[in-house]
Amino acid sequence: MPDHPEKRTVKVCIIGAGPAGLLLARLLEQCGIASVVLERRSREHVEKRVRAGLLEWSTVEAFRAAGVAHRLDRHGMVHDGMELRHDGAAFRLAFSELTGVPMVVYGQQEIVKDLIGARLESQGEIHFGVTDVRICQVGVDGSLVQCTLDGIPVEISCEFLAGCDGHHGVSRAAIPAQRRSSHQWAYPFAWLGVLAKAPPLSPELIYAVTDRGFALQSMRSPDVSRLYLQVPPNEPIHLRSDEEIWHELDLRLTGGTGKLPTGTITERVLVGLRAHVEEHMQYRTLFLLGDAAHIVPPSAAKGLNMAVADARLLAEGLDHWYRSGRRDLLDGYQSHSLRRAWHGQEFSEFMTSLLHVSPGESAAQRRMRRARLDLLRRSSTAATAFAEQYVGLSRP
Ligand code: FAD
Ligand code: DHB
Repeated sequence: MPDHPEKRTVKVCIIGAGPAGLLLARLLEQCGIASVVLERRSREHVEKRVRAGLLEWSTVEAFRAAGVAHRLDRHGMVHDGMELRHDGAAFRLAFSELTGVPMVVYGQQEIVKDLIGARLESQGEIHFGVTDVRICQVGVDGSLVQCTLDGIPVEISCEFLAGCDGHHGVSRAAIPAQRRSSHQWAYPFAWLGVLAKAPPLSPELIYAVTDRGFALQSMRSPDVSRLYLQVPPNEPIHLRSDEEIWHELDLRLTGGTGKLPTGTITERVLVGLRAHVEEHMQYRTLFLLGDAAHIVPPSAAKGLNMAVADARLLAEGLDHWYRSGRRDLLDGYQSHSLRRAWHGQEFSEFMTSLLHVSPGESAAQRRMRRARLDLLRRSSTAATAFAEQYVGLSRP
């Protein structure tokens, strides 16, 4: 960086154009608070990155309130229940009926496209391909960030800094080591996820628990399936041929009847199941949001929903500060978000242990897992408690 980079000022500097950063930028814009978004990857890359797909109703409402739900309302698939399969039996968990709240399937990359479209349309500042973001200072009254924008070295002075740069970003490390403490653990399995040009086996999600491992059937449209297989954690992503993947999915989802519709696999992803919670999500004028602060295993599809909740919370705190000069909501950001993150973590842990076969699992552990599934089928109280967590109602 040269001695005299171009100096710019902005109220809020947002690092990362994932769902958390983009939604925060949009919500701030609605409150008249100027921000700049700095994204390391290209626009094309972030718009094509296939990830989550299951949205809680409160997430849908957040996108509606942000005025970016036109396509979501048209193409999102409303779900009222899901199916759990185990030991040759199947039962439907009617979460809408049990809680009054449905879920919606709509791909994360579509949300990202909608938010980027809205940002560009309103001429909000957003930069892609910014590979050298450096947080130089996090102060009590503001922070300093250096990077190169359109070939020009710049120094951005901001009143607040929002670290929305995911698990591998730079923001977390800007909190001094002595102020940081975190919890992390990994599960002894991964998910091999595929996107396929094939109609889903069923219009509702199917979670299949088998002795061969877990499988999940989801979808992105009536003609596109999203499917996941539990695999060993270090399995190379291309180890299995497409035919082997379809065979294994059919074994786990239908008991090998050959009823699973197949088609061309257009995407593969390997997701290691792990968890991370950063106990310090704010330091002076820096705030961490979404995956930068906490990641959950995907079993309960909570990661994206938690990122959206963080963006709403911080936007509310900043709006309150700029309108009233009071910091109380901002100061409460960490404790509120952390409480919610631990609830999300706890349910994700529950779903993970309910659905997966652990290597070296004892017969007794397997029997207890079956008993837990059986309880969900037999007890409406257990099913309702589960459903409230699944749809996100019971998270604070
Ligand atoms: P991200 O979406 O990770 O966005 C962070 C952004 O910051 C990225 O665009 C990144 O390029 C950018 N960035 C990183 N470093 C820098 C830097 N130094 N400078 C500038 N920009 C930077 N959740 C589910 O609920 N269900 C799923 O099935 C599911 N599948 C997943 C599959 C994969 C492979 C992964 C990685 C995650 C998955 N998740 C899933 C989790 C979910 O997608 C995340 O919780 C969600 O993306 C979090 O949003 P975010 O905005 O916090 O972070
Ligand atoms: C999807 C992902 C999940 O992790 C999940 O639990 C349900 C659905 C999906 O990608 O559609």
